[in-house]
Amino acid sequence: MIILSIETSCDETAVSLLQISGSPTSPKIKILGNALYSQVKIHEKYGGVYPNLAKREHQKNLIPLLKKVLKESGSFEPTTRNQRPTNKLQKILEREAELLEQFLNFVLKIKKPRIDAIAVTEGPGLEPALWVGINFARALGEVWNVPVVPVNHMEGHFMSVLWTDIADQRRKNADKRRKKKRRINYPVLALLISGGHTELVYSKIPHKYRILGETRDDAVGEAFDKVARLLGLPYPGGPAISRLAEQARNKAQIRDSKSQTRSKSEIRKEHARFVLPRPMLNSPDYDFSFSGLKTAVLYLTEGKKLSAKDMGKIAREFEDAVTEVLVKKTAKALASQKVKTLIIAGGVVANKTIRKSFQKLALQNPKIKLYIPTRALSTDNSIMIGIAGYARIKSNPKLLGGRKSIRAQGKLRLSG
Ligand code: KG4
Ligand code: ZN
Repeated sequence: MIILSIETSCDETAVSLLQISGSPTSPKIKILGNALYSQVKIHEKYGGVYPNLAKREHQKNLIPLLKKVLKESGSFEPTTRNQRPTNKLQKILEREAELLEQFLNFVLKIKKPRIDAIAVTEGPGLEPALWVGINFARALGEVWNVPVVPVNHMEGHFMSVLWTDIADQRRKNADKRRKKKRRINYPVLALLISGGHTELVYSKIPHKYRILGETRDDAVGEAFDKVARLLGLPYPGGPAISRLAEQARNKAQIRDSKSQTRSKSEIRKEHARFVLPRPMLNSPDYDFSFSGLKTAVLYLTEGKKLSAKDMGKIAREFEDAVTEVLVKKTAKALASQKVKTLIIAGGVVANKTIRKSFQKLALQNPKIKLYIPTRALSTDNSIMIGIAGYARIKSNPKLLGGRKSIRAQGKLRLSG
């Protein structure tokens, strides 16, 4: 099956064309074309994502990305037969004026590519941004007469682990490597950690989810972003903090190995200056809270002129605090539920310390298979939306026939 997938829930505009076959829990995936435009630079000066600006950027970028994907996959074919826009098409895109103009100039002037379904993110996310992707998908579906399947963005993150190596697709031995397919065996425990979400989810059977616990305030990614801001680091904060923490860790290792003169208590004393809390580490539930951690960093930094070394120590301690809480809560959930596959996914899992800590946890639980997405598929992308769309279609083929209306659902939750 060939799926065109579209993701516009936040500040990444992404389009891909996938050829997928086989079991939905262990599909064979071939990326025919993939294009992603990150708006990070545009939102940087606001220190966060500005919804209406994101919406405008998605409108501007979707057609160029689609064109790139079609060209990459060899399915771009201009035609001289000029199709006329139907009233329905104009109506679908009436709120996306900028997109409509480009759409008419491009989509109506190419041959219909071979596509069996269009998968698009319906939520959760920023509604103005989600609507652009949904209306774009509906408009394409209308012109090409292809069904549109809505996808939950968080299920996309969950399924992102099924793709094994994006960088490999053009290498010679790509096929050999791709044969090492992954399989999601149920029951699954998933920790989904992104800029908008932090949730521990239990899934006994495909597409049925029970949220065991979630954040009561800030999401982990949001905490990274806010702490980075306090330290004067650029948006998004995750990668910036990760880099600083890693440098600090490497330097500390070199320093400690060189100096035999420093006693352990001396090292500990120095470290104690920057100790941060581990919020809700021992609470009797599976919930998280990260806003206190951000406030604690504020107290450490407020009114102080910090040296680069101090900043590194704070970044490292912050990363350690977050990791400790995430790992402990996940370990507790693992111990209390029957689990075959552990999935850690979402933008924050691009973080090396967090990845390594979960790999360590997996070593202590040899019966459980740990899956983490490649770093490229950790943050938002449309490949994961296509994979999740395929799984949905496989479990409910009626989706291909129905013409259910799709609405942006900013607060959509994974549910049973
Ligand atoms: O999944 P994602 O791309 O978007 C949402 O659905 O929210 O996640 C974005 C979040 C941002 O908060 C960003 O700071 C964080 O993921 N992030 C990281 C790293 N790379 C991205 N957090 C920690 N370490 C990283 N290396
Ligand atoms: Zn996401």
